[in-house]
Amino acid sequence: MTAAAESRLGVPEGDPAGPVLPQEELLVAAEAARWAPSIHNSQPWLLRRLRDGLGIVEDTARAVPVIDPHGRDRIISCGTAVLNAAVALRGLGYTVDTATLPDPAEPALVATVRVTARVPASAADTDLARMVPLRHTHRRVYRSHAVAEEDLLDLRQAVAVEGARLSVADAAARRRLAHLLRRAVRAQAADPELRSEVERWVRRGGSNAGEVVDGIPSSALGTSPFPVDSLVHGGHRGAPEAGEVEEELARSTVLVISTRGDTRHDWVVAGLALERLLLVATAKGLVATFAEQALQDTSLRPEVADVLGIWGLPQVLLRVGRPLVDAPLTPRRPLAELFEV
Ligand SMILES: Cc1cc2nc3c(=O)[nH]c(=O)nc-3n(C[C@H](O)[C@H](O)[C@H](O)COP(=O)(O)O)c2cc1C
Repeated sequence: MTAAAESRLGVPEGDPAGPVLPQEELLVAAEAARWAPSIHNSQPWLLRRLRDGLGIVEDTARAVPVIDPHGRDRIISCGTAVLNAAVALRGLGYTVDTATLPDPAEPALVATVRVTARVPASAADTDLARMVPLRHTHRRVYRSHAVAEEDLLDLRQAVAVEGARLSVADAAARRRLAHLLRRAVRAQAADPELRSEVERWVRRGGSNAGEVVDGIPSSALGTSPFPVDSLVHGGHRGAPEAGEVEEELARSTVLVISTRGDTRHDWVVAGLALERLLLVATAKGLVATFAEQALQDTSLRPEVADVLGIWGLPQVLLRVGRPLVDAPLTPRRPLAELFEV
């Protein structure tokens, strides 16, 4: 797209003297965005070709309104796609300017990711870019829940770089979080509307299993109920038994990403921080399991903040560790479907 056309569309222009991103490199960034994690693998984004990069646009047609009525998880998901695009372009040897919510006239434009100069890619940048297709969500048992102190420091740093904060729950906080989580999961399991929304996104296989392009394939679901399987769906008995969540969280490394506020901008920041954390974790051989239920219930979020003693708003709750067995990759929509027409 030309700078003039971008300007007509209301997209703030990049530097007209800056580099033009060749089509094949734009596709590398788009491919990285495509592999970002998203709520129910809904992939709620469209991609916009820019002269010097990519725009990531929220696609509300792919909303999951029962579990995510305010679009918080959707915008966090878009944020992960933005981070992947930026990481891919840095890995190709560019400096990158990411502008979040750059156009007040177009709130659906979550971010633009533009290249600003050619530089030699650092080993750290190329290593991180290589993690994009390897990262995936873990819904299996763990070989070890222990995470080394220096690895935790790196994860904390990854989150801080994006302007968010990482809390590591201590034993007392994990006990209280387990209680909140079990309450949230019990409520989700008892909500027929929520369960039927989840079932619409779970792909239970069948003759056309090879054609799955979104949602969560049954192969990626957990083999045991929550909290091993981090999704509350019809494949397991409903809510976990008393003590199950407590026992699992007692031995887990539990991380919470929080932001200063709770605006759309904060949600994008949470998504950037989440994906950087997940890529750094992947590079260390760590996997992550979401435990978003306690945050999807809006009334529990202040309690989670209180448990952790954090100043901001909790946005993402994860367990991390080393996997006993690996989980399969979850498919994505074809790249061609992702571009705005
Ligand atoms: C904001 C957000 C919330 C999520 N919440 C959950 C969750 O509560 N339970 C779960 O099992 N997975 C959750 N996921 C993981 C997605 O289901 C997963 O990213 C998607 O299925 C794609 O699979 P992949 O991460 O293995 O590539 C969440 C992901 C995001 C980005």
